[in-house]
Amino acid sequence: MRKKIIAGNWKMNNNKAETAALIQSLTPFNFSAEVRVMVAPAFTHLVQAEALTQGSRIEVLAQNMNAAESGAYTGEISATMLSSIGIQKVILGHSERRAFYNETDESLKAKVATAITHDMEIVFCFGEELDQRKAGSHFEVVKTQLETALFDLTPSQWSKVILAYEPVWAIGTGETATPEQAQEMHAYIRDLIASNYDQALEDSVSILYGGSVKPANAQSIFSQPDVDGGLIGGASLNADDFKAIIQSA
Ligand code: PGA
Repeated sequence: MRKKIIAGNWKMNNNKAETAALIQSLTPFNFSAEVRVMVAPAFTHLVQAEALTQGSRIEVLAQNMNAAESGAYTGEISATMLSSIGIQKVILGHSERRAFYNETDESLKAKVATAITHDMEIVFCFGEELDQRKAGSHFEVVKTQLETALFDLTPSQWSKVILAYEPVWAIGTGETATPEQAQEMHAYIRDLIASNYDQALEDSVSILYGGSVKPANAQSIFSQPDVDGGLIGGASLNADDFKAIIQSA
């Protein structure tokens, strides 16, 4: 049985004190043992987040990292740096990184490889843009994104991968994919995994949905058979909303 996963992507929001306050309003929350809860604060707050979540079941992940081991990459953060502060999880391929920082399926393949080398768990984001959905090419787009970045992994390396389908047109827009649209794509992704690997892997990979998930729509999305939880942006910045979403999982 796949556990549900609810991950909050805090993006470039909250100063140190605000991040601490948000974490401290989540740590006493006694959520179901069937759910994994993760939060991704900014790099500057990861040390603090790691300390404040000790003894709780809240897991901390980074929002990005560089593919290189070290070197002359001003402003970048390596896997070793994250590991050295106890962070063994990272979001890769978020659509904002693809759109604003030129991340490509190829560059993400390199980041995935580095994360795997460092035994890090990856929340891998992908999804089509609005014009691609309108043109009916969304399945093809998602197939290429996954094939390029992930389908060279071995089945055992896949145990480190959590997928997050995030249609770009639904991120931060208030426009959510319908539960049926999410389910249709998630089922397609499972079929892709089955045809590239096998049924066992198809059944074991967690696939999250992301894009304007709110307390009001979370349950209808999470109740779809192939949706294993969500990657939550805006609504994860409000403790009450995030808790309500966790309870919907
Ligand atoms: P949103 O963001 O929930 O604010 O739409 C989701 C995401 O970017 O992961």
